[in-house]
Amino acid sequence: MILRDRVAIVTGAGSGIGRAGAQTMAREGAHVVVADINLANAEETVELIAEAGGSAESLVVDVTDDRALQTGIADTAARLGRIDILHNHAGAQVSGNLEQVAIDGFDKSWSLNVRAHFMAARFVMPIMKEAGKGVILNTSSSSGVLYDREMIAYTTTKHAVIAMTRQMAGDYAKFGVRVNALCPGWVDTPFNEPFIAQMGGRDAIESYIAEKVPLRRWADVSEIAEPILFLVSDRSSYMTGQILVVDGGETVV
Ligand SMILES: NC(=O)c1ccc[n+]([C@@H]2O[C@H](COP(=O)([O-])OP(=O)(O)OC[C@H]3O[C@@H](n4cnc5c(N)ncnc54)[C@H](O)[C@@H]3O)[C@@H](O)[C@H]2O)c1
Repeated sequence: MILRDRVAIVTGAGSGIGRAGAQTMAREGAHVVVADINLANAEETVELIAEAGGSAESLVVDVTDDRALQTGIADTAARLGRIDILHNHAGAQVSGNLEQVAIDGFDKSWSLNVRAHFMAARFVMPIMKEAGKGVILNTSSSSGVLYDREMIAYTTTKHAVIAMTRQMAGDYAKFGVRVNALCPGWVDTPFNEPFIAQMGGRDAIESYIAEKVPLRRWADVSEIAEPILFLVSDRSSYMTGQILVVDGGETVV
């Protein structure tokens, strides 16, 4: 077990990729704090981890609420005595081009996809500095390294996550804190439900993906969870400020 005795906070761990990453960290011995805005989903993740013999607890929090986020992180650190891993994963996709996107949708994208990552990292950093080690993983997207049509809020914020990750990595390496970014491509989770509806159903999206992605399919969450484990564990101990793109070849053009 490569994460034995470590404490990990994973935001957005009530579903999809965040849940799969949390389960994999717990499988490897970490105690996982399942941070999510949705109580039922967070508790379901905790139960799944417990059923598999792992250790987890839920933290119901809207990560865009600075005060709630700060309190949740401070309480966790005080109770458990350490925070070794922060995976900033919760995010949202708001569609539209420059003229179409709702302004509050753009602001919401910024506050969830970028600002919440920034705030959570800011709250854990003193704890990691004091420990002389720590790992922060920020979820970006393949849309952080390419441009989607009519997705200005998403691509802008996901590109910003990468800039912020590299900046944090350079500033905090001297304290033993590593910061990397994860860029998933198409992953089969509830996140894509609005897009599936817009495309006209599962068959339509699957043929769209088969055409766009060289591996001709989308990823199962387990195929993103293993790269997450690599990035949050000592397996990537000499890696900081890097971007891991896991996209079936979508960004190969
Ligand atoms: N699924 C994909 O195809 C894909 C591809 C690239 C990047 N991503 C990124 O992965 C992240 C989520 O994707 P997923 O597929 O795991 O989604 P998902 O919809 O399965 O899960 C998202 C989780 O985040 C939680 N959440 C939403 N807003 C929150 C908030 N304000 N505070 C706390 N929790 C909140 C939700 O309750 C949910 O449990 C996003 O950052 C997204 O950009 C997903």
